[in-house]
Amino acid sequence: MSDMFSPIRIKQVEIKNRIVLPPMVCLHWSDDSGEATARHVAHYEAIARGGCGLIIIEACSVSESARLLDPQLGIWADAQIEGLRQITEACHRHGAKVLIQLCHALAVNTKALRTQSFVLLSVRFLFF
Ligand SMILES: Cc1cc2nc3c(=O)[nH]c(=O)nc-3n(C[C@H](O)[C@H](O)[C@H](O)COP(=O)(O)O)c2cc1C
Repeated sequence: MSDMFSPIRIKQVEIKNRIVLPPMVCLHWSDDSGEATARHVAHYEAIARGGCGLIIIEACSVSESARLLDPQLGIWADAQIEGLRQITEACHRHGAKVLIQLCHALAVNTKALRTQSFVLLSVRFLFF
């Protein structure tokens, strides 16, 4: 238990404790643009403020055509940089380190499958 609050080094990155936020998509907080919003920034900052050492930003699609769902966060366009930068800076202000989960869901992004959330949940780890 005492280890939980001690720092850990992963390669060159020093993480202040062993508390990690796993990636959890906030679907419908974004829109078709895939850009992060003020709500995302406030959400991740609140977790960092609470003391989390490593925050893994939710699955971000690397391609517009390979999203799990249209309102998923994206990392395929320059316009998406600003929101992700704001999330990162907000977390850094509280001493948290940030990772991002890259996601390519081409095999499940047909309209028919995307409307069935149970399909997404059952296959997601195959594509992350
Ligand atoms: C609302 C929600 C969104 C999630 N989004 C992602 C995601 O984007 N990527 C991922 O790999 N796992 C995702 N997960 C799975 C969580 O990361 C996982 O539940 C968490 O690591 C807890 O682990 P457990 O399932 O072993 O309890 C999500 C889970 C929930 C509840």
